[in-house]
Amino acid sequence: MKYFLDSAKLDEIKFAYHTFGIDGVTTNPKHVMNSGKSFYAFLRDISDWVKEEGLDGKEVFPISVEIDPNLTDPGKMIEMGKEVSALCSNFVIKIPCTEEGIEAARKLEKMNIRTNLTLVFSTAQAIIAGKNHSMYVSPFIGWKESNGEDCRKYIEDICTIYEQYGFKGKTEIICAAIRTPKQMVDCALAGADIVTAGIEVYKDSFRHPFTNQGLGIFCDAWNNTVCD
Ligand code: E4P
Repeated sequence: MKYFLDSAKLDEIKFAYHTFGIDGVTTNPKHVMNSGKSFYAFLRDISDWVKEEGLDGKEVFPISVEIDPNLTDPGKMIEMGKEVSALCSNFVIKIPCTEEGIEAARKLEKMNIRTNLTLVFSTAQAIIAGKNHSMYVSPFIGWKESNGEDCRKYIEDICTIYEQYGFKGKTEIICAAIRTPKQMVDCALAGADIVTAGIEVYKDSFRHPFTNQGLGIFCDAWNNTVCD
């Protein structure tokens, strides 16, 4: 299972890469706005960073970049997707799972430009993404669970259908908008390929009060033991 960081803050991305070994990044217009940088300044900075780290390359460290969500014409989406993708080989073009988005994504994939279909809230939408050979599909978890829906079955169903029709391994399932470590675990148990979450969810998932308590007990023991 791969871990992606959902953020456009370079300090968070660096920290999550070096500390938790994240495998990639997802962004959206809200994250870019919150980064305090312009869209293109963020793209320049992150592409410089992947080069510095030796992470540049199509298969190495995917970075999903959402194109202008105001675009509704597939031709314009393709134009912007091509322009953004040409800036860095790590970039994956994130497009909403709408009729226009599906058309644009299918055509971009035919040009060997990878896409991530986002804002997926139903199994039927996920099937369309798989059928059209998008590289990634992003079913949102947190939004649905806040609405009282249980997402484990939702992801299990997508995985079953993807296995059944040979989409698995071609379109990777990114469980997005993960809010809690439990949601991460549920998505892993359901068979998702990837989860993407904010930095605080990763921090929470690596913490346990017994780890700290145990560390205290072992430090006391060590400090009361002769070491020669
Ligand atoms: C995922 O790829 C999205 O960037 C993200 O999860 C969107 O949801 P959020 O901003 O509500 O977390």
